[in-house]
Amino acid sequence: MIQKNNTNANPDTPLIILTNNIHRFHEKDFTAEQLQYVKKELKDDKKTVAVNQYDRMVYVCVAGNSKKPIYIQKEEFRKAGHQMASVINKIKAKSVIIRADGLRDEVLCFTEGMALANYQFLKHKSGGKKNSLEVIALQAPKVSEADMQWLNTVVEATCKARDLVNEPVNFLSAVQLSDAFEKMGKEAGFKVKVLHKKDIEKLKMGGLLSVNLGSQDPPTFTVMEYKSPKAKNKKPFVLVGKGVVYDTGGLSLKPTANSMDYMKCDMGGSAAVSCALYAIAKAKLPVHVVALVPATDNRPGEKAYVPGDVITMYSGKTVEVLNTDAEGRLILADALHYAKQFNPSLVMEFSTLTGAASSALGKYAAAFMTTADNQKQAIMKSAENVFERIVEFPLWEEYGELLNSDIADLKNIGGPVAGMITAAKFLENFIDYPYMHFDIAGTAFVHAEDSYRSKGATGYGVRLIADFIKNKSK
Ligand code: BES
Ligand code: ZN
Ligand code: ZN
Repeated sequence: MIQKNNTNANPDTPLIILTNNIHRFHEKDFTAEQLQYVKKELKDDKKTVAVNQYDRMVYVCVAGNSKKPIYIQKEEFRKAGHQMASVINKIKAKSVIIRADGLRDEVLCFTEGMALANYQFLKHKSGGKKNSLEVIALQAPKVSEADMQWLNTVVEATCKARDLVNEPVNFLSAVQLSDAFEKMGKEAGFKVKVLHKKDIEKLKMGGLLSVNLGSQDPPTFTVMEYKSPKAKNKKPFVLVGKGVVYDTGGLSLKPTANSMDYMKCDMGGSAAVSCALYAIAKAKLPVHVVALVPATDNRPGEKAYVPGDVITMYSGKTVEVLNTDAEGRLILADALHYAKQFNPSLVMEFSTLTGAASSALGKYAAAFMTTADNQKQAIMKSAENVFERIVEFPLWEEYGELLNSDIADLKNIGGPVAGMITAAKFLENFIDYPYMHFDIAGTAFVHAEDSYRSKGATGYGVRLIADFIKNKSK
């Protein structure tokens, strides 16, 4: 929990003095001798200097190389926050004070890094060691109450998304995922409507139903809506997230060794959009936002759909399925068609969609494609603000030709090249509104600790969407 200047703090609460300039920091906390020591250490290019004042620890922490762009400097503060979180947990302190006189964004980023680094997923570990750190108290006059509340909300939402993604499928079926959304709606104040298998059949969502055929568990389609009475946007923003709670590949079983091990992460898009909505609603932003999540697992099974099947999608288009592992686009296509009824000003869709996006960019950025050219600058700006970077790929017509089928309107795979683009081209067949597509296959889940992103689920997308929508609500 992040809170303001805790004047009742115990005298032994560790203090972090944060600065972006080794010559400028709060010096009053030191004796002349200590100060001399700190200054000497900083001259030797140390980033952190620890002073043991016997009753408490004081750390001077320097970050942000002023020769680099602001957004890189901000990221350096988040990373410094991650490092200090381990130091504070090592000394088993319950709370910490961060003091920074003239800084705002830097303190917010440092605190964000610290709070996100403190995340743990201990639910299934008996006797798991819980981090000691619980409270981060800020003594930073330039940080407002509203800044702090927003940060708290966004951190909480990001950790919620991580919890959802880290949860294995034997604890998180499609129905259980929808239950989690209902609970989040109650907590944050947004409406949640869950369409169950009967409803989905009535609507003839052929993509979602086909992918679900091999499963023992029914699919769901969740519609979430938050509409502030003061909404600045007349037409809603619609978020769409891939909710494949587990992806075996279906009958086109995943071919690569161990590639199934982490496929519980295939609902990372749904976690991003639902938890971003959670933050937006909790912060009561003056906006109208809808979030849609088609959910199922993808498995081989007696009734499973097979390569060669032709299926009729919710939109009426027919698709020849040539690989059952390209299932995400099938369930998303139905959701994108469903989105049309909201007359959206913009649809932002997040999905762990292709290995190609992950191969091209690794864990460092999501593959981004859009038809909404006038929104590009705003999303690029948000991506830098929160350091959830995106790289644009083209939606050129020629890539669409790779999806031509001999016997149906489309086939669901485009061949060996440019997989992230052909996937997006497939989805483009189901939209009639300005559209952004984020392929987060490489960023949603990491296999080793990555600074404050932690190991496992990263919560990628929550901070990006939240920042973008917040800017749109101004
Ligand atoms: N869920 C996978 C994509 C994925 C890969 C997510 C790595 C996270 C990490 C998706 O459903 C998939 O299997 N895509 C196939 C598509 C192909 C068969 C056209 C892929 O990328 O190999
Ligand atoms: Zn797949
Ligand atoms: Zn998948």
